[in-house]
Amino acid sequence: MKLKELVKQKFSDIYGADPALVVRAPGRVNLIGEHTDYSEGFVMPMAIDRAVWLALRPREDGIVSVYSVELDDRTEFDIGDLGEPGDGWGEYLKGVTWAMLDEGYELSGWEGVVTSDVPVGAGLSSSAALEMATAMAYTALASNDWNAPAMAKIGQRAENEWVGANTGIMDQMISASAVQDHALMIDCRDLSTQLVPLPSDTKIVILDTMTRHTHTGSGYNDRRAECEAAAKHFNVEFLRDLDKVTLQKNVEGLDKTILRRAIHVVSENDRVVQAMSAMQNNDPHIMGLFMNASHDSLRDNFEVTNRDLDLMAALAQETPGCYGARMTGGGFGGCVVALVKSERAEAFATEVATDYANVTDLQPHIYICQPMGGAEVVKS
Ligand code: GLA
Repeated sequence: MKLKELVKQKFSDIYGADPALVVRAPGRVNLIGEHTDYSEGFVMPMAIDRAVWLALRPREDGIVSVYSVELDDRTEFDIGDLGEPGDGWGEYLKGVTWAMLDEGYELSGWEGVVTSDVPVGAGLSSSAALEMATAMAYTALASNDWNAPAMAKIGQRAENEWVGANTGIMDQMISASAVQDHALMIDCRDLSTQLVPLPSDTKIVILDTMTRHTHTGSGYNDRRAECEAAAKHFNVEFLRDLDKVTLQKNVEGLDKTILRRAIHVVSENDRVVQAMSAMQNNDPHIMGLFMNASHDSLRDNFEVTNRDLDLMAALAQETPGCYGARMTGGGFGGCVVALVKSERAEAFATEVATDYANVTDLQPHIYICQPMGGAEVVKS
């Protein structure tokens, strides 16, 4: 059953009525521009055909109560009395509620059912999708217009200030504002966006290594702190403001690790801009080379890959039909994204899966993806 039907069905099983609203917010895959967003740099993600779906109806008593189909668990809280942050999936809903209240939105209660096919911890933004679905639920119930950058910032505040993960703005921005059939180049300084078409006759293939990460763990937050230290050394507010020449000239006294972090961010920002031109010129070969170079830098300079991501990227890169492949998302586990010739996509998926399973004994999940639109109300 499609998730839209499933979430409506579950809602009527539980509440004995049809939902007043169904909302959808997608996960994402980042094509290039990794670990650049919190340095106010460039990213180029697209929304995927995997999403969080919420079926709901309003409540008059200021309570939010949501049942998760996957977890067979209910989260419930009073908008007027959120208490302190705790653990579990409900914190993403509470965090969004807290941030919206803090920014003066008037919120009313609701109850419903949530379901999702965005794998958790795989680097495909399951949490951002849940945050944007929650923000969309409040927005639709209040009959407000959807302001994608404002809601993305709300989601980021929920992560940073409620959940305690120091993530950037990319995941929420793409879930909130994606456009079907396109990737989006996002300038994480002013949140301006440009639509970028995928090269013709190509497919985006996601290869899940089945190894996992958590962003509240130390690795991600450490990288962010290292980028801040690098910016301080070079006397710029963010690494976005640093160019290659200045970087090379002023390395004296800089810790080698911090230098490598800076080299990654500065070179990755350049790669995003050039990758966008390659996509606009309908050139998958050049785009693929930038993807490969991005992986190398994430492995050697930023050190956020693991053995399985390196293996998966290498296997993908050497399999016929692949233009380029790299790890995607925060890293330390999760997925590789590959740009593949359409006619080879199915065979590519099978061949890489077999090779990977032979070496690791892990059975990877592989998705051939469609670029989807961003968060929306699908039934009013
Ligand atoms: C995670 C974060 C994003 C971004 C990526 C790395 O997905 O949520 O903000 O920093 O890692 O590019």
